[in-house]
Amino acid sequence: MAEQEKSSFVEQSLISVTVNGHFYEQQVPVRMLLSDFLRHELHLTGTHVGCEHGVCGCCTVLLNGEAVRSCLMFAVQANGMVLTTIEGMAGIHSELHPIQQAFQEKHGLQCGFCTPGIIMTVHAMLHEHPDPDEEEIRHELSGNLCRCTGYQHIVEAVKLAAERLREPYMEED
Ligand code: FES
Ligand code: FES
Repeated sequence: MAEQEKSSFVEQSLISVTVNGHFYEQQVPVRMLLSDFLRHELHLTGTHVGCEHGVCGCCTVLLNGEAVRSCLMFAVQANGMVLTTIEGMAGIHSELHPIQQAFQEKHGLQCGFCTPGIIMTVHAMLHEHPDPDEEEIRHELSGNLCRCTGYQHIVEAVKLAAERLREPYMEED
């Protein structure tokens, strides 16, 4: 009996995270994946889960601005950090982020399963490299698997998004 009680005990830990501008503080099982925390505890189901072992990139989110695979982290490892998921990309009036807008215009998605992860990867990429060439774009996207598009439209969407995101800076010159 004592052995049974011991095996059903799930160690918990208190974490605090800021996700898409909202502060959360709650107890989580120490072995809960970050992807499961986002989807099942915060109900942010825009973060998709495909392979659950770091291959497909569907679960990519921003952690302190860097693209990470949320299926490869425990929620407790995000304690004290700032996260952005696909739900945090749209503006306050629900207008699409320029990257999302470019994907829509250039038909950068079909089924959409890979799209949230790709959008987050592109967001981090364009922050680091605002003017990537096609080779760089394809290299950066190589960690995000898409079974539908053949990538060409995704690459076109990234180019358009990069151009538009650079515009404010170009106007200042
Ligand atoms: S679900 Fe995380 S990389 Fe595939
Ligand atoms: S749009 Fe279907 S997997 Fe990428």
